[in-house]
Amino acid sequence: SIKVVVRVRPLLEREIEKSPECLVDIDTDKSIVLRPGGDLLKARKYREAQRFMFSKCLWSYDRRANVPYADQNTVFTEVGLEMLENTLNGYNSCVIAYGQTGSGKTYTMMGSDEEDGLIPMVCRQLFKRLNQQVDSKIQVKVSFIEIYQENVFDLLGRGNKLRVRENSERVAFIENLNEYNVSDSQETMRLLNKGLENRTTAETHLNKQSSRSHSILTVTVSQEKFDPATGSLVKLKSNLKLVDLAGSEKFVASDGLDKIRQQEGSRINKSLVTLGRVLTILSEKPNQKTVVPYRDSILTWLLKDNIGGNSKTSMIACVSPIDYDETLSTLRFATTTSKIENQVLINKE
Ligand SMILES: Nc1ncnc2c1ncn2[C@@H]1O[C@H](COP(=O)(O)OP(=O)(O)OP(=O)(O)O)[C@@H](O)[C@H]1O
Ligand SMILES: [Mg+2]
Repeated sequence: SIKVVVRVRPLLEREIEKSPECLVDIDTDKSIVLRPGGDLLKARKYREAQRFMFSKCLWSYDRRANVPYADQNTVFTEVGLEMLENTLNGYNSCVIAYGQTGSGKTYTMMGSDEEDGLIPMVCRQLFKRLNQQVDSKIQVKVSFIEIYQENVFDLLGRGNKLRVRENSERVAFIENLNEYNVSDSQETMRLLNKGLENRTTAETHLNKQSSRSHSILTVTVSQEKFDPATGSLVKLKSNLKLVDLAGSEKFVASDGLDKIRQQEGSRINKSLVTLGRVLTILSEKPNQKTVVPYRDSILTWLLKDNIGGNSKTSMIACVSPIDYDETLSTLRFATTTSKIENQVLINKE
């Protein structure tokens, strides 16, 4: 099954001033409760407290006595380590950060100036582990793209639009995408940082540095080693995709967003709606005849194998502690996702 982990972010500076009520609680490390706050309860009676269960619930809201605080290392231990193991063992794997705008996806995946996020930690540890394998031939390649307004751009290239096509086995690929051979984590980090500089972000009313595009970093690892048990040469090839989505957002006419931000927002929402539709169909255990509309958005088309095929996939659902409606919608989305089962294989020759 797709493994789903929830992370509750702390209050942002501009939120602290208003001292809002925290609407979420983590009562065990696997369950999260969302409550309508006092004000909301009076205003709208139909809102109820709801409990959701996930593989893990990570608390980054505050440091309190009875709930362990989840820092960036905790995310790595809970999600990254397993993905690293999968990649080294020849499985395709994928981590997707999902959640409303400003909920902490980019912070979780990339990190901040002070602290590395999941992606830099995974890259570092990957090379550490690969360097320990003295008896095998190893090749690592990276590519980094963004999907902006339903177009693919190479974050490590010259910024031109790229086309998505399908090969004879109906696997989507990006034509003319740059893939770089990397031999250590410094080189990988350099490329990652170059890509991040090229990524489209902008200030919105909800997030100072809002990602206006979905980004996908793909690390492909090929290993060749001699297996003494069978006397043969074994080749393993796996890819690890690290996905930082753009956040969903609601429009309020009075927000005064300019045309570009609005158009970006509606396209972001469109691909997230498609992602939601695809995940819902997949969670209902489709049969051979079910049509899954992967091709309705570039995002789902490129992630087809990761959400409905040969990949060990995790989702990190990021939530705000003070937004009942958006958090409820993210938790429901995450619950649907957790029902999806993939068929995984070791990619071995
Ligand atoms: N766990 C956390 N600890 C400390 N700060 C956090 C945490 N999560 C998020 N933040 C802060 O919250 C703000 C918004 O986070 P971030 O940019 O990661 O949101 P996002 O989900 O990527 O939003 P968007 O969809 O708009 O890109 C940032 O200033 C970030 O530093
Ligand atoms: Mg972001």
